[in-house]
Amino acid sequence: MRGTAIPAAAHPSPDVLVLGGGLIGLVTAWRAAGRGLAVTVVDPEPGGGAARVAAGMLAAVTELHYGEETLLELNLASAARYPDFVAELEDATGLETGYRACGTLAVALDADDRAHLRELHALQQRCGLESQWLTGRECRRLEPMLAPSVRGGARVDGDHQIDPRRLATALLDACERAGVAFHRSRALRLLTSRDRALGATLEDGTELHAGQTVLALGSHSGTLEGLPPEVAPPVRPVKGQVLRLRMPPATRHGAFLSRTVRAVVRGGPLYLVPREDGELVVGATSEELGWDTTVTAGGVYELLRDAHELVPGVTELPLAETRAGLRPGSPDNAPLLGPTTLAGLHLATGHYRHGVLLTPVTGEVLAELLTTGALPEPARPFTPQRFASSRPRALQEQPV
Ligand code: GLY
Repeated sequence: MRGTAIPAAAHPSPDVLVLGGGLIGLVTAWRAAGRGLAVTVVDPEPGGGAARVAAGMLAAVTELHYGEETLLELNLASAARYPDFVAELEDATGLETGYRACGTLAVALDADDRAHLRELHALQQRCGLESQWLTGRECRRLEPMLAPSVRGGARVDGDHQIDPRRLATALLDACERAGVAFHRSRALRLLTSRDRALGATLEDGTELHAGQTVLALGSHSGTLEGLPPEVAPPVRPVKGQVLRLRMPPATRHGAFLSRTVRAVVRGGPLYLVPREDGELVVGATSEELGWDTTVTAGGVYELLRDAHELVPGVTELPLAETRAGLRPGSPDNAPLLGPTTLAGLHLATGHYRHGVLLTPVTGEVLAELLTTGALPEPARPFTPQRFASSRPRALQEQPV
């Protein structure tokens, strides 16, 4: 239901304190507020973070990897929720999210790429997913800007896209309309008693107490002071550099690109995501460089070189923006969702390559957990407890 956004007064002692106002924190807050809980979000810049960088592919099928079949179930569950989720969010706010049911074409440039893509296609079929093998000529018929060297591809009509910046803006607005309070400051320290989480101290000196605290700080989730080592999530930053170009308006001969195009070039995944408003997102590097978010000449060069091999016309386009962000990587590339062994502390982090895709299902399962105490089925394989036995003993034995 649309209404006028009213800034919510900070709840002095909310039911739920969400640390982190990225997509995951915002959707958790929105869904929890929708279930009648008083929610406060802590973030110096809500709606910022990885949402400002991510391309927004909803690529459950084309971003499938061997050994990640359990994660596939969660990814598919979230992808299936997207149309209703977007409709509800757009209806609640009157804002558009840039959701586009455009499908994806994964292509191969040489014989090695083709063999690799054939394997992926076979895996997709074994998993019962919709994916159609095309010749190079059939790929170019769909997307005439593709290079003549394209050798074949897999057409996946179910992998769509959304604009993560618009999604973040809409979620922020929806939160405000739902009465979520915001503290525009950084969470400094988790407050705990001997056996439970009590809230957090913020950089501006505020102390917030809450019955339940959700840690949704993306790649920073493991670094919050005061986190007992045995519940600190094993997430690490994985840098991604991304370019934004401007495409010419579509003519009667068609659009520059009409769907997301992906490839593996020189062993690295490359994608071009065309938005309806003319933006073309080209990503992404994958770099294990700690907290570094520098956009490098080498990163931009590699993305443009590989994109040019795939779609030669890209180098004619205006380059509008370059940016780097940090994916919250986890040891098994899957998120950590649910309660920790510290009462009152829940995790919603470690979404790695699928944060945008997993936004709807994360909001839903966290809201259910926060209201009933039970983690619903789709999230059960992703509880933080799966890493408990692999923690170094010294860490496990540190006192709270
Ligand atoms: N899911 C796209 C990326 O992580 O680069």
